[in-house]
Amino acid sequence: MRITVVGSINVDMVATAPSLPRAGETVTGAVLARHPGGKGANQALAARRLGAEVALIGAVGEGPLSDEALVLLEEAGVDLKGVGSAEGTPTGVALIAVDPSGENQIVVASGANDQVRPEHLPARIEDPLIVQLELPVETVEAAVGRATGFVCANLAPARPVSEALLRRCDLIVVNETEAAFYGDALHSGGGQVVITRGAEGASLYKRGAVVAEVGAPLVEAVDATGAGDAFVGAITVAFLEGQPVDAALRFACAAGALAATVAGAQPSLPTRAQVEALLNSGMAG
Ligand code: RIB
Ligand code: NA
Repeated sequence: MRITVVGSINVDMVATAPSLPRAGETVTGAVLARHPGGKGANQALAARRLGAEVALIGAVGEGPLSDEALVLLEEAGVDLKGVGSAEGTPTGVALIAVDPSGENQIVVASGANDQVRPEHLPARIEDPLIVQLELPVETVEAAVGRATGFVCANLAPARPVSEALLRRCDLIVVNETEAAFYGDALHSGGGQVVITRGAEGASLYKRGAVVAEVGAPLVEAVDATGAGDAFVGAITVAFLEGQPVDAALRFACAAGALAATVAGAQPSLPTRAQVEALLNSGMAG
């Protein structure tokens, strides 16, 4: 199985703080860490760690952060031939605050990700495709338009997209906030829609009707960053393997839950063996 991901690449600057700041508030006492991140890169790595061959298309900028952003992808053997270097632009950076319950707040300085244009994409994308919304929307739309096979769109962060994109997707994955943003438009195509509910699990809809619903495994959440990306990578792998919808949802919830138990995004993405161990432990939802 080979998957192409068209998406963002960031370095995450993570401050683990006693609480998340409200607007205008300063919170002190945080501890800082840096990890590779970006929804596109995270989803590519998630699928790779679960056993798929993965190619990533995107961009890093100039300077030392560009290598740092790619190090775990390289180590895992993700194909990075489609990752360009945007001159005169910094690598994308996400400023992330995490509180003791694992809840986060993220601000992204897109940098090089904003330079990924439709002309950087292949004329046809024959692999199954995963996209998110941290690249320019026109680039995401172009990628989906050029895909000839299975398309999974993680509509995160939520922003307006065309009806054509919504109709073309075989699978749309959103969290509850994103689901509220899109409303009924989410269900306008014939594809499947998954709404993730964090510790509550996930539901799968077809034409607006629930066809499967599972709870999430009970885990001790440390940092939810990367959990959504683990879920997206995992559900795509599970569908491409032909797993039945209930099993696919359970597999993806287990991957997401495991990612929430470890700090950072990419360092927390589980391997296949870890997901299977959790599923077989009787603790899965
Ligand atoms: O989904 C988590 C990711 O969102 C982080 O890695 C951060 O880079 C932001 O893009
Ligand atoms: Na995490």
